Amino acid sequence: MTDLFSPVALGANTLANRMVMAPMTRNRCLDTVPTDLTAEYYQQRAGAGLIITEGAQISEQGIGYPATPGIHTPEQIAGWKKVTTAVHDVGGHIYCQLWHCGRISHPDYHGGAKPVAPSAVQPAGQAFTYEGLKDFVEPRALETAEIDAIVEQYRHAAACAMKAGFDGVELHAANGYLLDQFLRDGVNQRNDIYGGSIENRTRLLREVAEAVADEIGANKVGVRISPVNIFNDMHDSEPQALFNAVARMLSGVGVAYLHVVEVSLLGEPDDAVDMTQIRERFSGLYIANGGYDQARGHAAIAQGNADLVAYGTPYLANPDLPERFKQGAALNETDQTTFYGGDAHGYTDYPALTG
Ligand code: PHB
Repeated sequence: MTDLFSPVALGANTLANRMVMAPMTRNRCLDTVPTDLTAEYYQQRAGAGLIITEGAQISEQGIGYPATPGIHTPEQIAGWKKVTTAVHDVGGHIYCQLWHCGRISHPDYHGGAKPVAPSAVQPAGQAFTYEGLKDFVEPRALETAEIDAIVEQYRHAAACAMKAGFDGVELHAANGYLLDQFLRDGVNQRNDIYGGSIENRTRLLREVAEAVADEIGANKVGVRISPVNIFNDMHDSEPQALFNAVARMLSGVGVAYLHVVEVSLLGEPDDAVDMTQIRERFSGLYIANGGYDQARGHAAIAQGNADLVAYGTPYLANPDLPERFKQGAALNETDQTTFYGGDAHGYTDYPALTG
């Protein structure tokens, strides 16, 4: 029977199991460069069939949080090279998550200029800056003529990720960041070819997916979406129709996997979305994410509802999560106070099983 521990092919790679380490922001980079500690952290977790890194900014414009990594400069490539080497040395596989925060940012990161977004719609809430929390501002709506440059930022970042030794990249089109802001009509109020109809709102994601696939090969590209997530003040009037169309479109581009956050990270979803409809429209691998434990993970795979399952917070505290699942061992408790920022404590000092 196929379960979490069964190998699976992803592009040209064979993953040792179907457990994925979900992307999680940790805010521990030096400026925007991964460190030796970053490499140690990911190496400890390389027993996952696939690691997806924390979001890495595709450009200076893409940043929105303190001490998060970039993947667009030679220094950042060199930092990530240490990470990919450390993971490959122990037989793991690792994709780089390509991130542009869009309006979920602050002028403090942009020399006082406004963050960019599809439309000048200010999110409710506050940005994390180097000086603490500050209210979000009304973003600047991107001009139509600026969009090609954004697509090129993704292409460049994907090329940088390959230079850094990654096995592939994941486009972050979830959780209220730039690509998701274009998808959902609660934020995208454009009246050019990137707004209005579902076809228009999915255009930027299609162009980015096509450009990145052209650059590195579609079988090294995954995409993360979050159809019901209202985190970061996201809303859409017709999420089922929208994300069914996204799945069909990405299937046409031929990307290797669709990674679906099936829950709302914060707050009740506006609308229910039937994930099986999304899965049916996508011919590649389906990675399920959101509150799965071992039993639900095995069941999702055995029943054919998912090909892989991504685990987030359990992976923070349990570097050897697959081994613990296999042995039925107890899990370490996760310390929420050390999620974001700080040093090795709560990062690389969670114990593995001994013996
Ligand atoms: C966060 O830093 O809180 C964060 C970042 C990326 C996500 C979700 C949450 O996709």
